[in-house]
Amino acid sequence: MNIVLATRNKKKVEEIKRIVAGMPISLYTLDDFPECPEVEEDGKTFEDNAAKKAKAVSDYTKMPALADDSGLEVYALNGEPGVLSARYAGENTDDRKNLEKLLNEMRLVPDGIRGARFACCIALAFPDGMAETFMGYSEGSIGKGPKGSNGFGYDPVFYPAGCKKTFAEMADAEKDSLSHRGAALKKLHEYLKGRK
Ligand code: IMP
Repeated sequence: MNIVLATRNKKKVEEIKRIVAGMPISLYTLDDFPECPEVEEDGKTFEDNAAKKAKAVSDYTKMPALADDSGLEVYALNGEPGVLSARYAGENTDDRKNLEKLLNEMRLVPDGIRGARFACCIALAFPDGMAETFMGYSEGSIGKGPKGSNGFGYDPVFYPAGCKKTFAEMADAEKDSLSHRGAALKKLHEYLKGRK
């Protein structure tokens, strides 16, 4: 199946391409459709945003489109930053500022209650208007300072459950086997196998 990847985040494109490498999918990206309009992520849930992005790109390209909406939910912060993960420190922010804000918000939170999870919704929308969504989670905890330089976003402070390394200290394959995006894409894989 030919699918357009509805994201301009280069790191996500890399990760998704890597994880779907063995699947029956030929991936196009928005670089193949430079005029495709931006979609505002104003949904209250990861599902809302992922489905909105996938549908908009499928409408525009007339091809099946796959979108990812993901983020970090920190239990001691009542699920923040959640759907606002990319904009946690404001509108014109970046990964470093978001990470600084998170560590600052967590400075008084003791060990033992620093639990968090990454969540990822993958949406696949078809030109006939149909859409499917697949959720994946990765449970873990937030460290006291950044460690490692791989990956992106909050990877340097996220320790997956049972691991002594952050996502940013892991090789790609190790992160993929534990990540929320890997889990959601595994469900997509099962779905695509069932459609054949
Ligand atoms: P969005 O899905 O484009 O709205 O952005 C999700 C945001 O959540 C990213 O900008 C990161 O800050 C964070 N995020 C999502 N997935 C990951 C991940 O695998 N590692 C680290 N941060 C992530």
